[in-house]
Amino acid sequence: MIKACVIGYPLGYSRSPAIHRYWFSRYGIEGTYDAVPVAPESLKENILRLAEQGYAGFNATIPFKETIVPFCHTIDDAARAIGAVNTVVIDKSGKLQGRNTDATGFALNLQQKYPGYEWQAGTAFVLGAGGAARAILHALKEKKVPRILIANRTEEKAQQLAQHFEVEVVPWKDRESVLKGIHLLVNTTALGMTGKPPLDLSLVHLNKSATVYDIVYAPLMTPLLQNALAQGNPVVTGIGMLLHQAAPAFEAWTGVRPEVDSTLERIVLEAAA
Ligand code: ATR
Repeated sequence: MIKACVIGYPLGYSRSPAIHRYWFSRYGIEGTYDAVPVAPESLKENILRLAEQGYAGFNATIPFKETIVPFCHTIDDAARAIGAVNTVVIDKSGKLQGRNTDATGFALNLQQKYPGYEWQAGTAFVLGAGGAARAILHALKEKKVPRILIANRTEEKAQQLAQHFEVEVVPWKDRESVLKGIHLLVNTTALGMTGKPPLDLSLVHLNKSATVYDIVYAPLMTPLLQNALAQGNPVVTGIGMLLHQAAPAFEAWTGVRPEVDSTLERIVLEAAA
């Protein structure tokens, strides 16, 4: 019996149980995956308890992605570069291996949609400077994208990320004027999500071959992606990033590399609706 869970606080919105339970069932693996709310002040006791109880590992979500780092015995390169852990593998001796699979999730999603996608063909432009932007900048650097730009409403946050990842800052007010030379545009802000205003960005100057990637997945087709589609640009929705970041965690806990298929996508979207 393989035991895994997601820890966070509060946890009402987590899609991870639906993803991992689907894979346990699809691959005939006996396993459980629960959502475990953990009070931030008792993080350490709770993760020690999971190790004692024989858990194979767990996912960490808000507010623990950064605070869990000091409790991990090892940290992989992605987690170190991003400064956050989203996946923990508990080894046989109870030691915690901290990993971050968000960057690979981001890249695999694009590659599954557009096999043979050429990362090095041009400039990438990232909007937003939160935790998701950190993972995406790491992925773009790993893929050796030749030029990477970032813009954020609060420019200071963009400057901090630009320094850390060695990318260039575009002032938020100039975000439309750089679109002409862009090969990949990524929205990492929450704008366009159900209940939030759409991203304020005209795409009229966007290069016609540029791929537009929105990490928001509720709704799947954000106003940004609808505009991009209407102009004939290739688009990538955010649901795949969520599903693909889960796959390496499932593989680490069970030894089975799961497939991200359309049934899983439907199940998770229905859970998000
Ligand atoms: P996450 O860690 O999930 O990426 P976050 O840290 O809350 O989320 O980041 C949200 C991003 O959306 C930030 O870049 C934020 O910009 P600020 O740094 O200026 O706050 C951006 N964002 C949120 N609301 C916005 C708005 N109305 N206009 C522009 N950017 C917005």
